[in-house]
Amino acid sequence: MPLFFKSAAPRILFVGSEAAPFAKIGGLGEVMFSLPRALNKLGYDARIMIPRYAGIDLRKFNLEMELEGLHVPTDIEDPNQPENLICNVRKYTSGTLARSPATTYFLENFEYYEKRANVYGYNDDSVRWALLCRGVLEFLRRSKWVPDVIVSADWQIGILPNYLKTIYKEDQVLSKIATVFSIHNLFYQGLFDHHFVNEMDDDDGKSSVPSFFDPRLLKINGMRRGIMYADIINTVSPTYAREIMTKEYGELLDGLLRERRSRVYGVINGIDYEVFNPETNPHLAKSFDANSLKKRSANKLELQARFGLPKDEKAFVVSIVARLTEQKGLDLLLPVAEALLKETPMQLVVLGSGEAKYMSFFQDLEKKHPKRVAAHLSFDFDLPHLVYAGADVVLIPSRFEPSGLSQMEAMRYGCIPIARKTGGLADTVEDYDPQNKTGLGFVFNSFDSISLVVAMMRAYEIYRNPEVWQKIQQRAMNRDFSWKQSAADYGKLFETAKAIHGREVKE
Ligand code: GLC
Repeated sequence: MPLFFKSAAPRILFVGSEAAPFAKIGGLGEVMFSLPRALNKLGYDARIMIPRYAGIDLRKFNLEMELEGLHVPTDIEDPNQPENLICNVRKYTSGTLARSPATTYFLENFEYYEKRANVYGYNDDSVRWALLCRGVLEFLRRSKWVPDVIVSADWQIGILPNYLKTIYKEDQVLSKIATVFSIHNLFYQGLFDHHFVNEMDDDDGKSSVPSFFDPRLLKINGMRRGIMYADIINTVSPTYAREIMTKEYGELLDGLLRERRSRVYGVINGIDYEVFNPETNPHLAKSFDANSLKKRSANKLELQARFGLPKDEKAFVVSIVARLTEQKGLDLLLPVAEALLKETPMQLVVLGSGEAKYMSFFQDLEKKHPKRVAAHLSFDFDLPHLVYAGADVVLIPSRFEPSGLSQMEAMRYGCIPIARKTGGLADTVEDYDPQNKTGLGFVFNSFDSISLVVAMMRAYEIYRNPEVWQKIQQRAMNRDFSWKQSAADYGKLFETAKAIHGREVKE
């Protein structure tokens, strides 16, 4: 129960397209799990709302009916289309599972969610997200539990603050709610390619949101609307918050972000220290901590066995754990991978799936060097723990990186990041300095292959000096990347959002 709050615990609702363990595709799903949990440990009443996709099992998660027959208006004038979509709201109560997520509401609609196995990738996704945004608000109008603040994640939920500030402006209940718009990745802005059709969302994003079945809904830039209408905008690291106000990283929204500069904040993500824990995680071959790093080699051997590589405690094991998309900067590795394999005895393990270009590159590399390269090209929840516990380094050469979680997850297990100095990587991976004996990883600046090779060679040379390497591992493992500080920073953001909202309502 509330630790610090004199009155009732502040109520926060996180709305997003994914949340672990119910539906997780990437880092967003992980943050939707771990941030509300961390806030609740500080005494908040933070909850979550997502759609109930086909894979979310009623019985497994013990989901109870919270509200049946919720009518969500579609705003359509065409008499051949439904005026309302009929939804239900289900509820998962926190504590039902071990390592439980926060209390979570699910918007149910047979056509748009329950029939769909995937989170993303349908032609009518714009309707699916509009329905979620509006469904959440219609639900809250009827709910006993009403949040003080709604946190909307990324473009999918960008029109929620838009609805709130326009059609629900006068609503008794909803008008009191402050909004935070969280940018986890500015690159994705809607279903269209914003590099070509920036101006499609007419009227500079000020026109009313089209009805669900109007083709103009497809052209709405949810990212822009979120930035325009929310009381506060936050992104997932201080460096990325600065970067997105520049042309290079701004994805054509840098001008708008600069205009709203006084409302833009950056709070670095944390990771869940109960889940990512080398002393207790069940997916390791052997537990260890910063003072028993010798035990770590059992995990290296297990990793090599699982990936079909020769077992060798001394091998320099380089790992990649990522969504294989352009963002992750693997283009830097492609032209130099062969040379690196030739010049060093490294073993390379790759875990993740994504674009065909990268998948086939790693498949070919594995065929050519079966004793040196092993690729596991699919998404896996559990295997990353073993990879981080067994590999010596993790490669993160991102082109841009809003926060990045893998560098923090890896460091928790003594796996040293080789990372590009951008976004959250710049905020978390302090470069190794041999003179002052400081630093947690190896950082490079320019987005080019030579810079990547320089960082990798620096790492490899130091790796061959086990005493020095161990010190880097210990520093990385002892640095605090838990949510503690960041969750407290979010708390301050919520207060600011409420204050701004309060002022604006009065005006
Ligand atoms: C997105 C970003 C990643 C961030 C994650 C969670 O996936 O690309 O950098 O860590 O969201 O905020």
